[in-house]
Amino acid sequence: MAAIARLGGATMKTLPRLFQNNRKWASRISQADPTFFPLLAEQQTPDFLWIGCADSRVPANEITGLLPGELFVHRNVANLVVHTDLNCLSVLQFAVEMLKIKHIIVCGHYGCGGVKAVFERTPHGLIDNWLRPIQDLCRRREAELMQLASLEERVDRLCELNVIEQVKNVANTTIVQDAWRRNQPVSVHGWIYAISDGLLQDLGACISSAAELNELEAQ
Ligand code: CO
Repeated sequence: MAAIARLGGATMKTLPRLFQNNRKWASRISQADPTFFPLLAEQQTPDFLWIGCADSRVPANEITGLLPGELFVHRNVANLVVHTDLNCLSVLQFAVEMLKIKHIIVCGHYGCGGVKAVFERTPHGLIDNWLRPIQDLCRRREAELMQLASLEERVDRLCELNVIEQVKNVANTTIVQDAWRRNQPVSVHGWIYAISDGLLQDLGACISSAAELNELEAQ
């Protein structure tokens, strides 16, 4: 019993399965390309910044088939870009100004728990403050949302609207505005992912200039 308890304790502290997986993964990549890790250690030159939901079912690199070094990633609950969020803004600034990333992808997903939460009447604590922008968006688009028959459809439509809203938020940051003023090419894309079939969809809300942002905001 004591041995089992000790073993259990050790497992709790070291999570051996994850380290075994890691060693297998690293050796598989090194065998295919012995220069992969040494070259990656020198620098990163990703072309894409991914702003996505923290949901464990939406792993950015896997679903886009991109390797380490190819995708700069920021994830939070419900893929929000809040103008006072130093974390997200710092990622954005580093991506645009240091890494000179050309494409910023805001990717939401259908059935997002953070979006679903705004339709529920029960309080969720601290996170309700974080989700407040989605609550406000839900209220602004209530007429359109209430035309949809089921709760599931309303959640999914709000997931799409939330992505488009965050695309505008990215485009309105001083970071992206300054980049456009310098004529640095940066495009902001709005995508949505379906957990049920693993497929990404472009929401057709791509913005590459201040003029395009004005057009999207006028809609
Ligand atoms: Co989510």
